Amino acid sequence: SHESYTEPYRPQYHYSPAKNWMNDPNGLVYDNCTYHLYYQYNPGGDTWGAMSWGHATSSDLTHWKEQPVALLARGFPDDITEMFFSGSVVIDERNTSGFGSDGKIPWISMYTSSYPVEQVLPSGKQVRANQQGQSIAYSLDQGETWTTYDEANPIILEPPAQYQDQWENFRDPNVFWHEQTQQWVVIMSLANIHKLLIYTSPNLKEWTLVSVFGPLNAVGGQWECPSLFPLPVNNDESNIKWVLVVGLNPGGPPGTVGSGTQYFLGDFNGTTFTADVGSISAPSNDTANWFDRGPDFYAAIGYNGLPEYERTLIGWMNNWQYGQSIPTSPWRSAMSIPRYLSLRTIGQKTALVQTPQENWASIAEEAIVSAFPSVADVHELGDIGKALEIQLTFSSRETAPGAVQGSSESGISIRASEDFSQQTRVGYDFATKQAFVDRTQSGNVSFDSTFASVYFAPLSPAPDNTVSLRIFVDWSSVEVFGGQGESTITAQIFPPDNATYARLFSTGGSTDNVQVRISKVRSTWA
Ligand code: FRU
Repeated sequence: SHESYTEPYRPQYHYSPAKNWMNDPNGLVYDNCTYHLYYQYNPGGDTWGAMSWGHATSSDLTHWKEQPVALLARGFPDDITEMFFSGSVVIDERNTSGFGSDGKIPWISMYTSSYPVEQVLPSGKQVRANQQGQSIAYSLDQGETWTTYDEANPIILEPPAQYQDQWENFRDPNVFWHEQTQQWVVIMSLANIHKLLIYTSPNLKEWTLVSVFGPLNAVGGQWECPSLFPLPVNNDESNIKWVLVVGLNPGGPPGTVGSGTQYFLGDFNGTTFTADVGSISAPSNDTANWFDRGPDFYAAIGYNGLPEYERTLIGWMNNWQYGQSIPTSPWRSAMSIPRYLSLRTIGQKTALVQTPQENWASIAEEAIVSAFPSVADVHELGDIGKALEIQLTFSSRETAPGAVQGSSESGISIRASEDFSQQTRVGYDFATKQAFVDRTQSGNVSFDSTFASVYFAPLSPAPDNTVSLRIFVDWSSVEVFGGQGESTITAQIFPPDNATYARLFSTGGSTDNVQVRISKVRSTWA
């Protein structure tokens, strides 16, 4: 039912639902050569509302097929008694839950039940209006249809006794199997007090609180959608670090307004996550470890069901600050490009490196490569289109001591009108050693007063003195992967339909050894 997917701003190679509101990715799970993407979805409208789990599937993380709603808000549309908030899905191969039958392997979804009205549930448990509790559902048909565990839901009714008053902000369970201790682990959030709770379970039904993490580093707004997973450092499986990811809303990276995503590196022993000293900063969003420095990357979680140390993660490419008023119709919100994660030593640091993971061979047209010994001021590239993959490299430049931000930049303007009165500037500031995205003139910026802004991400030139930026442009977004992918900026843009021009720029002097490789990206919906 993808019709043509050619409405203004419709993402061509990012997932978006045909219609209605979407937020967080939920229950990312891979099985039988299929990537499942569940997500927060309002089947009743194009703003946040009757939260349910939408569903889409893909064989290559690139071409998606929207599936029927997996968990529909109870009582939808007129008399809602339970909404299905964010959570995760695991495949219970050993049938530890006992939900499997006739040799069928159960899939378990663990999610937050949000109860808008006070009620006594089928389990006999009583909930207050606006209470949040953790529930499970199971599927015996590989995630297509789900049965909620009404006999006992919510299986975690209340926060731990010492945080009892947090029952309205207790959510977002992210489950995984911990191989070393042979048990299930879940991490969830006490959103208002910036604490993460870790529980363990032998069977996904009975959970024991084993540790509490936080507050630490950036503590703006609420903490939401935590997750925890292991990654080898420099591909060395004898050197494993655990990555803890958590969303903040509001309270994102410096220079943004609204939601953002931070992470910690550390160790996890099956019960307790301990952040490395190098991962701990002053309690401030200036010094925290940011997953992405742009305004539109939130509630990211990774896939379960991939080989142990492989982690591909998807974020919601929107922001609670203005998400419900972006100028798209009849849908609102898209997902980020799936990102394959690794840890690499870059300079003196262990960096979280993101690699955009799509089946590029199937959608990227042959690249046009141009090389320039030197670019001064601007170099026109002409009409290059609206969905693009761009690789831009150039030599780093010396800047005079005290040079100010903006005085010596190099980059590319994309999605520009023919006269460049509208454009999105993506580049590198040599004075501050930061990549940037400037969306102040990116078409429709007026639906929110904070939208027209410039976003910066620290990025050191490579040892060979080059700066490289991979830039993914779609009909309403730009994602920048700087260096090896240790620095990313994700931002929505809403340029006019005829803004298809591009040019290279260099301010405050010339930039040397500029190479630009541009591929048009075909629609994945055709
Ligand atoms: C994050 C979030 C989650 C919650 C969901 C509700 O964007 O607020 O904490 O589960 O959205 O839709």
